[in-house]
Amino acid sequence: MAVVIVGNDPASRVYVNNKKKACEYCGFKSEEYALPEETTQEELLALVKKLNEKDDIHGILVQLPLPKHLDDKEVIDNINPLKDVDAFHAVNVGKIMLGEYDFLPCTPSGVMEMLHAYDIKVEGKNCVVIGRSNIVGKPMAMLLLHENGTVTICHSRTKNLKEICRTADILVAAVGKPKFVTADMVKDGAVVIDVGMDRDENGKLCGDVDFENVKDKCSFITPVPGGVGPMTISTLMKNTLKAAKVQNNL
Ligand code: GUN
Repeated sequence: MAVVIVGNDPASRVYVNNKKKACEYCGFKSEEYALPEETTQEELLALVKKLNEKDDIHGILVQLPLPKHLDDKEVIDNINPLKDVDAFHAVNVGKIMLGEYDFLPCTPSGVMEMLHAYDIKVEGKNCVVIGRSNIVGKPMAMLLLHENGTVTICHSRTKNLKEICRTADILVAAVGKPKFVTADMVKDGAVVIDVGMDRDENGKLCGDVDFENVKDKCSFITPVPGGVGPMTISTLMKNTLKAAKVQNNL
C-alpha cells in the first residue's frame, strides 16, 4: 500500500502512522509519500499516476483533508479504481449505490462489521445517521439500507433533529462536533455508534456523543477512542488484501 500525506496536519499524521503500523502487523509492504504543504496539484497527480503504474503497489490511499489549494476530487478521480482502497472513486461509490461492490468505504464498513459481531440486526430498524459526508454519512446510510434498515440522514439544516434522533433504534453520529449527541436525543435501549474524533474543551480526544451521560440509556455504545477507529483500519487492511488479490487474479 502507498500512503500519501500532504502537509503537516497533526491528526492526519496520527491516522497515517496507524495505517502504516497496521500494514506492518498484517505483513503488507507499505510506502509513505510525505509531501510538503506547498505541493502543487500537478505534482500530486504525477505521484498518483506513478503509483497507478507501479506493479508492487496494490492500494493507494491519499489522506484527506488535503491542503486547501489542492483539489481532492480531481486527485481521487485519478486513482485507479482497482487500487482505491478507500472506495472514494466515483466508480466505487457508484458500485456501492448499486450494491455490487469490490471495496466498501472503511469507516461505514467497520461499523457494519461491529454490528454483525454483536449480532445487532438492522432489518426493519429505524436507523438515523447524523452527517452527510461522502466519507461516512452517505455510504453509512447506504450500507444500513442494504441491510433493510429504515434510514434517515440528518444534517445541519434538519428540522427537529432531537425528535428524529429519538426515533432511532440505531443512531450513528458523524457530525464532527464534540459531545453533540446528548442524552435527551437518545431513545432508551438504542444502539449508539460514535464516529466522531473531536477534542473537548480541555483538548482531550472525545467523540460526537456525550458518552458519560448517554451510556446508561443505550443497549450498546462505542467509545472514543477505541471504538469505530480501529474498525476503520481493519477494513482498510481487508480492502488492501482484496486489491492485491483482484490485481493478481487470485
Ligand atoms: N480522512 C479521514 N478519514 C479518512 C479515510 O478514511 N481515508 C482517507 N484517505 N482520509 C481520511
